[in-house]
Amino acid sequence: MNNNYDKIANHYDTLSRLVFFKSQVNAQVNQLQYLPKDSSVLIAGGGTGWILEEIAKIYPSGLRIVYVEISAKMIALSQKRNYQNNQVEFVNLGIEDFKTEIAFDVILTPFLFDNFAEQRAEKVFGQLNAYLKKDGLWFLVDFSLNKTNGNWWKWLLLKSMYSFFKLLGIVEANELIDMNPYFLNAGYKVLELRLYYGGFIKAVIFKK
Ligand SMILES: C[S@@+](CC[C@H](N)C(=O)[O-])C[C@H]1O[C@@H](n2cnc3c(N)ncnc32)[C@H](O)[C@@H]1O
Repeated sequence: MNNNYDKIANHYDTLSRLVFFKSQVNAQVNQLQYLPKDSSVLIAGGGTGWILEEIAKIYPSGLRIVYVEISAKMIALSQKRNYQNNQVEFVNLGIEDFKTEIAFDVILTPFLFDNFAEQRAEKVFGQLNAYLKKDGLWFLVDFSLNKTNGNWWKWLLLKSMYSFFKLLGIVEANELIDMNPYFLNAGYKVLELRLYYGGFIKAVIFKK
């Protein structure tokens, strides 16, 4: 299992809206106000690419975006999006295999880390940390379970999602990895933290 969403690419957005209404979208769209003008942006695991259209509503031009997706079908859907005059380079690779000399101003990892087992999460964090400029921003959005917001229904929903994705042979993770310690140990500061869907979705803007 390598977390490739090819099998459900055509249905992913419908499924997401069915279960989470627009919470997954809202959590990501709200973060876009922090995008600096004319910046270089790395998006890892962007799915069907709807976020490219949301970004283009804020900046129709001037951004240099690298869009890394492990799913070829997700890449194909994303390429059809109207990202206006922003420059978008599509890379069909797992982010762990993506090498670059670019130092990015912003990195987006929306619902990426919750697919990963700990070893991969640690590796990808280290890699992306190296690709982000000093003072750069990292937009993290993931599911969240912890002592203060760990209600039974969140636990149940998460278990059901992991079982569903296991059945399809897509996702390697069995449990959520708490990424917060990685950011704090690497010296990141939290600029904004917002919760959605009763606290089950956590959106954080980290500054390096
Ligand atoms: C849960 S979906 C989220 C999609 C999108 N961010 C959204 O919120 O609509 C996770 C996406 O990450 C992609 N993905 C999973 N592992 C990846 C990896 N190692 N590198 C790049 N993309 C990956 C999957 O193919 C899938 O499209």
